[in-house]
Amino acid sequence: MQEGENMKRKSRKSIGQKELERIVTEHSNSISLHDKYGNILLNFLGVKVSNLVGLNAKELSNEYDWSPSQKAVQTRSSVTGIVGTKYGRQQIVNATPLMDENGEVSLVIVTALDKELLDRYKEVLNKDKDNSLDESLKVTIDYLSEPNYSNKGIIAESPQMVKVLKTSKTVAKTDSTVMLIGESGTGKEVIARYIHRNSLRAQKPFIPVNCAAIPEELMESEFFGYVKGAFTGANMQGKAGLFEIADQGTLFLDEIAELPLNMQSKLLRVLESGEIKRLGDTKTKKVNVRLIAATNRNLKEMINQKLFRSDLYFRLNVIPITLPSLRSRPDDILPLAYSTLKELNLKYGLNKKFTEQAIEAFFNHSWPGNVRELRNVIERMVVTSEGDDLYLEDSFLEKPQLSGNTSDSKSPKEKTVYRGPLKSVLAQVEEDYIKQILEQCGGKVAEAAKLLGIHRSVLYRKMEKYSL
Ligand SMILES: Nc1ncnc2c1ncn2[C@@H]1O[C@H](COP(=O)(O)OP(=O)(O)O)[C@@H](O)[C@H]1O
Ligand SMILES: [Mg+2]
Repeated sequence: MQEGENMKRKSRKSIGQKELERIVTEHSNSISLHDKYGNILLNFLGVKVSNLVGLNAKELSNEYDWSPSQKAVQTRSSVTGIVGTKYGRQQIVNATPLMDENGEVSLVIVTALDKELLDRYKEVLNKDKDNSLDESLKVTIDYLSEPNYSNKGIIAESPQMVKVLKTSKTVAKTDSTVMLIGESGTGKEVIARYIHRNSLRAQKPFIPVNCAAIPEELMESEFFGYVKGAFTGANMQGKAGLFEIADQGTLFLDEIAELPLNMQSKLLRVLESGEIKRLGDTKTKKVNVRLIAATNRNLKEMINQKLFRSDLYFRLNVIPITLPSLRSRPDDILPLAYSTLKELNLKYGLNKKFTEQAIEAFFNHSWPGNVRELRNVIERMVVTSEGDDLYLEDSFLEKPQLSGNTSDSKSPKEKTVYRGPLKSVLAQVEEDYIKQILEQCGGKVAEAAKLLGIHRSVLYRKMEKYSL
């Protein structure tokens, strides 16, 4: 029995290691660090430092069919996709930009994995189901071989979410424009990526754009690009806009309600003609982009207030999908909570568990920040708890939003007792202060950013982080 167990363990190990060795010796995976100009600062191929250091990503452009690193700089967001090499191999590449305090890209981390080897590795794992490798290794492999998203699957236990997924899968196969409507944190981006992944464009880029985070004066050039010498201060070589970058793929326009009216007209024109014109250019260019838009605002009301163009609304609202709030689908709460906990336990090598108290509290809260808030709360519980038992303290939860003017809510200030590592306390203070300033400005983000002394896009990111 003992022997048998040992044997099993041994053979189990050798499968993983042999395959892993191949991946490494064939130098198929790499990690590198680029600056925002595409200069390669550091590059590991397999286990060796490669000779690419000092080159510029652009110099490699004849080796690869496109550059996720450049796209990550242009879009200021993480880009994942399949890149073909000139030797006919395919790599799954992720480029993640790191931002500085002004919201500018300072560095890009690029990881590349050989797709074929990964697929083969996965096959071995699947064939070997009952004496398979550790769960954690499997999760890692699933993560690495998932081109477009996420170490965590989409959780959909409630009938409402099952229906959302079903509709999404069906419309994915069409090229129709989808409008995702739902409160912040309900999973609009998750669904947008799911639609892309299940579409015929899955192997092409998925480009997420947060309309709220692009400064108004840069919007046109970000969306449509510009040619050499289009305006002073413009990049010498000109620059492709987001529509060109997303060509053949999917463009995800998040927070669409934040587009100023003049951009709404320009967007409408592009959607009607299927053509874009770079700033300063005389020629137009055909682009083939599938559009997914998302909003947490009531666009119909905005139309009545003349803040949103109704013709653009009808163009975008071809297939509306509403993401239900978390409080309206309690069946999803525990599955989401457990999967988040599993992810964190794995990430930090912990073995924490929810107490009865925590579970009951999950159901008593209204989750104004939806799934994002739930994830944040669980992360707070995990990083601040001392033992393995997780309790949910009231101070971790968002107060349900008071509708209308909140200036009368000045309750006597209680002294806050902070607990846990400095980092989480600082985050709590940051969150509280941002909330206070936002309230003071009646929710006007540009004004609040000014008071806080940070860029509007930085504030949006922080608001997203704290589900504000
Ligand atoms: N059904 C789901 N299953 C797993 N994770 C989810 C689900 N919905 C949302 N999340 C997670 O919650 C967070 C917020 O989701 P996101 O798609 O960014 O929301 P939104 O775009 O509506 O604000 C993300 O971390 C996302 O991974
Ligand atoms: Mg979002």
